[in-house]
Amino acid sequence: MSRYEKSEIIYKEAVKYIPGGVNSPVRAFQNVGMHPIMIDSAMGSRLKDIDGNEYIDYIGSWGPMILGHRDPRIVETMQEAMAKGISYGLPTEIEVEMAKLITESYPVDMVRMVNSGTEATMSAIRLARGYTGRDKILKFEGNYHGHSDSLLVKSGSGTITHGVATSLGVTEKIIQDTLVARYNDLEDVKRIFEDCGRKIACIILEPIAANMGLVAGEEDFIRGLRDICNEYGTLLIFDEVISGFRIKFGGGAEIFKVKPDLACFGKIIGGGFPVGAYGGSKGIMELVSPLGGVYQAGTLSGNPLAMSTGIKNIEILRDNPNIYEHITKSAKKLEEGFVANIQATGVKAMVVRYEGLLTLFFGEGKDYRNYDDVQKADTAMYAKYFRQMLDRGIMCPPSQFEAIFISSAHTDEDIEKTIRANKEALQVISQ
Ligand SMILES: Cc1ncc(COP(=O)(O)O)c(C=O)c1O
Repeated sequence: MSRYEKSEIIYKEAVKYIPGGVNSPVRAFQNVGMHPIMIDSAMGSRLKDIDGNEYIDYIGSWGPMILGHRDPRIVETMQEAMAKGISYGLPTEIEVEMAKLITESYPVDMVRMVNSGTEATMSAIRLARGYTGRDKILKFEGNYHGHSDSLLVKSGSGTITHGVATSLGVTEKIIQDTLVARYNDLEDVKRIFEDCGRKIACIILEPIAANMGLVAGEEDFIRGLRDICNEYGTLLIFDEVISGFRIKFGGGAEIFKVKPDLACFGKIIGGGFPVGAYGGSKGIMELVSPLGGVYQAGTLSGNPLAMSTGIKNIEILRDNPNIYEHITKSAKKLEEGFVANIQATGVKAMVVRYEGLLTLFFGEGKDYRNYDDVQKADTAMYAKYFRQMLDRGIMCPPSQFEAIFISSAHTDEDIEKTIRANKEALQVISQ
């Protein structure tokens, strides 16, 4: 009998009613060649599945659970908020508190709350277009900004600057307005700007890219983008949906000491509730309706439960900088353990880490700077590795092209157990 029998049974039921059995594709575990694990509950650094198996969780809901699962401070805040009301569709004081907190934490003057990272980036792009009166946008291959049409585009062949859709249903007209450049390659960006820079409304990027595995933005590159945007009157948008409040409290803006024109947030700022936000200087944000002509709205935007838990989450992070130290220390320890295991077993793999985020890339690669580099990773080896780790009670991301998320709830014991499991898994897959 499989350890994952109930998960498999529920999955067979799920595929009858939900496309692919899941509500977001990566959860289908397709990339690691198995059916998904159905989660029953979670506490601290641990997940429990419906078969009763326990895992040390390195997904953390893909970022939001930076304090671990069911942190008592978050649960209590949520319960207090819920006792007052769930949703009004009218303004509340707590939304003002949230907006103030974000503006005190990040170099933006005003913010608008939305319900997901996708909404945040989509709205920021509309605002950039409205503000500049330009149609084109520039993104980077391997950066993910959610699933709005303009952003589901990757690089085309070398001779053209606009890209190709990564989804059916994205129209040719939209593709023509989305230019795609190579990450960490300023020359590529300059070439595109020399061609049509005055038509480009914005550059959007993940300052620390974590959706092609972890690939950190380089300082010269990020600073260079700021200069190009200044020269051409193009807005610079930092997508801080992962990096904001996680890698450092002040995200990419703090890391690179670069002020973007607009920034997008999500994940952590909701403490586990569906939330997003975008913000920028007053002069730009005042163009958003009802003040200005850029329309954007949301029935559940600024939801009181999400605002309460989100504020609590951000306040805990602000008041306890040791959380970042703990997470980075744990990540470093994982890195050292994994590297020693790689050397001991002779498996071809490499750890890429930036502060508290890391990815274990399989394959011959030695340098991970952009999408072309990560494409060389050995995804079949990763799939084998993932399954070995799962059997040992470690929940890694079910794809080679994701980062490991560590929380303040991960203990030294968790990290040591993970390193031991990593060694055994590498031993098995190297045979
Ligand atoms: C950097 C980044 N931006 C945007 C998004 C989209 O956020 P959401 O899934 O909340 O729509 C994600 C999601 O993973 C992300 O990682």
